[in-house]
Amino acid sequence: MIPFIDLQAQRQRIAPQIAAAVTRVIEHGGYVLGPEVAELESKLSEFVSSESNTIPHTVTCGSGTEGLSMVLMAWGVGSVSGGSAKDAVFCPAFTFVATAEVVALVGAVPFFVDVEEDSFNMSPASLAAAIIEAKNQGLIPRVVIAVDLFGQAANYSAILPIAAEAGLRVLCDAAQAFGGEVTLAGSNHRQKIGSVGHATVTSFFPAKPLGCYGEGGAIFSCDMDLVVKLKSIRAHGMGEDRYQNIRLGINGRLETIQAAILLQKLTIFADEIDLRQGVAAHYDRLLSDMGAVAKGVKLPRVAAGNLSAWAQYTVILPMGCDRARVIAELKSAEIPSMVYYPIPLNRQVAYCDFPLVAAGVGVSESLAERVLSLPMHPYLAVETQMRIAEVFCRAIF
Ligand SMILES: Cc1ncc(COP(=O)(O)O)c(C=O)c1O
Repeated sequence: MIPFIDLQAQRQRIAPQIAAAVTRVIEHGGYVLGPEVAELESKLSEFVSSESNTIPHTVTCGSGTEGLSMVLMAWGVGSVSGGSAKDAVFCPAFTFVATAEVVALVGAVPFFVDVEEDSFNMSPASLAAAIIEAKNQGLIPRVVIAVDLFGQAANYSAILPIAAEAGLRVLCDAAQAFGGEVTLAGSNHRQKIGSVGHATVTSFFPAKPLGCYGEGGAIFSCDMDLVVKLKSIRAHGMGEDRYQNIRLGINGRLETIQAAILLQKLTIFADEIDLRQGVAAHYDRLLSDMGAVAKGVKLPRVAAGNLSAWAQYTVILPMGCDRARVIAELKSAEIPSMVYYPIPLNRQVAYCDFPLVAAGVGVSESLAERVLSLPMHPYLAVETQMRIAEVFCRAIF
């Protein structure tokens, strides 16, 4: 079986540097919040800054899920964090569960919004309707969690003004999109994901565009008041010193060894994002030339002004196409494929009682039945892509 994501190819490129970095941490002994953590935070801030935006601060944390919860806690959303049990947080129905899980865990209400087929991301029109409906249901709209699914930024040019008008904060769930870029309306500069919204969270889970060798995450924000709270929350709500607890917190720290590994991976990350553009463009060409598009397969689209981090290369199969058979045919040719995500969150057992927009989330439900992600990583060889495209195109009818 070829790897779906080839982490070993990447490791071979920088194996001695990673081994040396890990050894340094073991020898200096600062395993928790050691010097590599501060160095990584400063390098990540540098990475997400550009001429068109102020430099965001970075607070690393133990995972993307922790990062999302920490921001909601810092904003006092939900009954656990000092807010109300009626606080509504708007989430797309088509996303990984963590986006909505954190909302319910802080004691707020995840309110499901539909997505757009072209981008897989939150529909601004559905969001606008959901905000009005939530108010009518007696909920208190607080936050929008826009997800940058599969590596591409959500439509922030439309979402930010809708949120601003309703007085909501925007939390960008960029777990899959670190390294991506976006151009906001009225600007002629692409800016890095991590520099839009009130705060952005990313994940360093191994399979993510920038992954560590375990769990990890980071939060970006230009709001210094938020940054101070986040640093306190990730250390059990500490105050001036460690044994003074001035708010509820968690153990949300990134391990120094993971920071040391990420520092090494960051040195080749911009190049890897470039390589991913080439792999995606090659899939586009092969799948068009070999007839998949003519057979009704929809290729992933990147909106003008966006740069995708290409965490996934996800196609939409034609209506009526037997996805299970396509997956089986790929598998019998030793080609892995994945369905992200087979069940929209509003249909999950743990989430089906939470509210959703009155018009429904039909696009999310249709995508859940038709999406398929093909192997994607920076080191995917052209010949391998040709084989994948050939088997895939043969399997579509
Ligand atoms: C959209 C999205 N949000 C949040 C997360 C959670 O990140 P982590 O696995 O680092 O907790 C993920 C991870 O897959 C994700 O894809």
